Amino acid sequence: MSISKAASGKISAQSPIEQRLQIEHLLSPAALSSNQIIDGSDVVKGLTQTSKSLPARFFYDDLGSELFEQICELPEYYLTRTETAILQNYAFEIAQMTGSCELVELGSGSSTKTRILLDAYNQLGYPLHYLPIDVSAGILESSAKQLMADYPSLQVHALVSTYELALEQLIPTQLPSRMICFIGSTLGNLMPQECDVFFSQITNALHLGEYFLLGVDLQKAKHLLEAAYNDRQGVTAAFNLNMLEHLNWRFEGNFDTQLFEHWAFYNETRHQIEMHLRSLRSQSIQLRALDLTVEFEAGETILTEISRKFDLKTLQQELSQHSLVPLKTWTDPKQWFGLLLCQLQP
Ligand code: AVJ
Repeated sequence: MSISKAASGKISAQSPIEQRLQIEHLLSPAALSSNQIIDGSDVVKGLTQTSKSLPARFFYDDLGSELFEQICELPEYYLTRTETAILQNYAFEIAQMTGSCELVELGSGSSTKTRILLDAYNQLGYPLHYLPIDVSAGILESSAKQLMADYPSLQVHALVSTYELALEQLIPTQLPSRMICFIGSTLGNLMPQECDVFFSQITNALHLGEYFLLGVDLQKAKHLLEAAYNDRQGVTAAFNLNMLEHLNWRFEGNFDTQLFEHWAFYNETRHQIEMHLRSLRSQSIQLRALDLTVEFEAGETILTEISRKFDLKTLQQELSQHSLVPLKTWTDPKQWFGLLLCQLQP
C-alpha cells in the first residue's frame, strides 16, 4: 500500500487505483478467435430469416449505453426509478441475509443501482469486491473508475464480455460467498427457452449456498407499458435506431437510419413489449464485413428486442426448478417491479 496525497490535500493511505482495478477483455480479437460479437453469425442468421430480428445486445455500443442511461431518466420509464426505490428500502436487509460476498453484476452499465448495494455491504463492515460484466468497454471503464474514486477500499475486476462467456469463466472469489446480480429486468430480453438456458448457466456458475439477485419488470396495464417504450422525447426511438449505426461500424454496413422508424407495442398474449425497426420503403442493405446483402420490403420490420413482463409466482417456480430457491421477494407499493433474492440449494 502506498501513501498518496489526495486532491483535497489530505494524506490518504489507500492503495493506488491500479492495484484495486483490473479490466479484462474477453471480447478482444486476441482473446477469442471466434465469438458471436466478432463473427456476427447471429446477425446473419437474424437478418436472413423470414421474420427478421437482431440480438438486443447490439443496442449497447458506447453511444447506445449512453442513450440507455437517458432512457432510465425518462418520466415514462418507471422501471429504473421503481427498482432503485426497492433497492433503497431493502439493500441492507439483502446484505444482512447474504453476509459478506462478492458482487458479480451482469450488464452492469453505469453501476448506479449497484452503489446502493455497495453502501449496504460497506455499512455492515464487509470488504467490497465487485465484478462488473458488460459488452460495452467504454461504460465499463468509466463507471469502474468512478466507483474506485468513490469507494476507497473497493476492489474491481471488470470483464468486457457477454454473460455466457463470463459465467463460464468466473474467477474464484476470496470472500465467503458470491451474489450474481441481474437487475434492471434485462432477463426480459430472453425468450422463455433462452431464459431456461440462462438459469442453468447461473446454477452452474454458483456454488451451493451462493446467491442470485434478480430484478424484473412485472405485468401491468398496457398503456403504462406502451408509454414506457414510446417516450415523448424520442430517446427510445433513437436508442432503437442506433442499433443500425452500431452494425454499420462493426460490420461495414450502409443502413440509413432515416429510412427506418421505431415501432414498439405490448403483446398481451405473450406479456412482452416488442420493439421493431420498420423499413419505410423497399431497399437493399449491405453489411460488407459479413458479406451480406439484405432486401427489405416497404413496411417490413426487424424485431430488435422483446421485453418480457413477469408474473412473480410463475417466475419463482421456474427459479426453484433450477435449484435457485427464492428466499425473499420485494416489490413496490404498486407492484410494478420485483426484486428476488435466490440461493443455490441442493
Ligand atoms: C435493459 C432490457 C431492461 O427492456 O426495458 C429500454 C431496454 N429497451 N427501452 C427494457 C430498453 C427500450 C430495457 N432493458
